[in-house]
Amino acid sequence: MTQLVNQYTPQKEGGLSDSPASDSTEFVDNFQRKFYYLRLSITDVCNFKCTYCLPDGYHPTGRKNSSFLDQSEIKRVVNAFADCGTTKVRLTGGEPSLRKDFTDIIASVAETKGINKVATTTNGYRMAKQVDDWKEAGLTHINVSVDSLDPKLFHQITGENKFHDVMNGIERAFEIGYQQVKVNVVLLKQLNGHSLPEFLHWIKTRPIQLRFIELMQTGEMDTLFQQQHQSGVSIRNHLIANGWLLKIKEANDGPAQVFVHPDYLGEIGLIMPYEKGFCETCNRLRVSATGKLHLCLFGDQGVELRDLLEQDQQEGALIERIQGALKTKSVSHFLQDGNTGMTPHLASIGG
Ligand code: 5AD
Ligand code: SF4
Repeated sequence: MTQLVNQYTPQKEGGLSDSPASDSTEFVDNFQRKFYYLRLSITDVCNFKCTYCLPDGYHPTGRKNSSFLDQSEIKRVVNAFADCGTTKVRLTGGEPSLRKDFTDIIASVAETKGINKVATTTNGYRMAKQVDDWKEAGLTHINVSVDSLDPKLFHQITGENKFHDVMNGIERAFEIGYQQVKVNVVLLKQLNGHSLPEFLHWIKTRPIQLRFIELMQTGEMDTLFQQQHQSGVSIRNHLIANGWLLKIKEANDGPAQVFVHPDYLGEIGLIMPYEKGFCETCNRLRVSATGKLHLCLFGDQGVELRDLLEQDQQEGALIERIQGALKTKSVSHFLQDGNTGMTPHLASIGG
């Protein structure tokens, strides 16, 4: 039987309700990509030691001016992005929930005019206890990392024996009314590379979008990439052969390829940064926990914004600096050509 696989059709123009108004100042690059999604890191600190990210755990850099943005600075940066059409903010880290003021930060972003999606990416270790407060504060979307459904392997990959806490956190999110939770799985050939059946079984009855992320090579990775990198192609082939259909992308969708199946409540997302065309639908900009704008995860030193976050009156200059930087945004990360960029690990700019 031939499966109909819908063609991927990137749409350049916004048409959805959360697209920015066309007459507002917008963040657009030289390739007509519009940016309405800000990924804002609020801390570099993490309490996990994921083998592909912080295998030796978090160590402070001791660099001057390395304190993290405070609430007023966060408010100013988010205001500037919102005034230029940003509708979605993701709070990342490190582990964002390690900040004592995490719930206040959620509330402040959620009350920003123009922002209608407030998301976070968390390792989930505090979720069971805190997700009620996050929801109350206005958090609309949650991504949690779960690299294995086997508690021992989970411990091995993350350095922490917290599998059950994370699972309880996901269950709690559903209990209090989240319609969907996204779960990130970094594909690691020799560790979880054969776990697709378990993951599929898990999402059969749960509204989880399970996203397999191909391991990305970072500056601090040595042999790990050679040993563990596994392409998402084998997963995609398996899905297509088993009746999964590729969802057509909508205007604001990012680079994940999402598959659905009538027998499954959950969905599968594939994030394959080494595949041609990955950057075509780039719709996001990143700001690091110390206030640097990153135009791409890779190969980019960052543009300092912090000196313009001291007062509300500097918003005009801040927007100008961001727009100036956008003119230099490259069409692709060129990872496929072996460019690993300067990113030492993704905890430094929030994945
Ligand atoms: N390659 C792919 N994904 C990574 N993440 C962190 N480092 C890497 C890497 N080198 C993912 C984490 C988490 C998100 C924040 O980024 O698993 O889901
Ligand atoms: Fe922490 Fe996320 Fe890095 Fe794991 S991937 S060490 S949870 S920042």
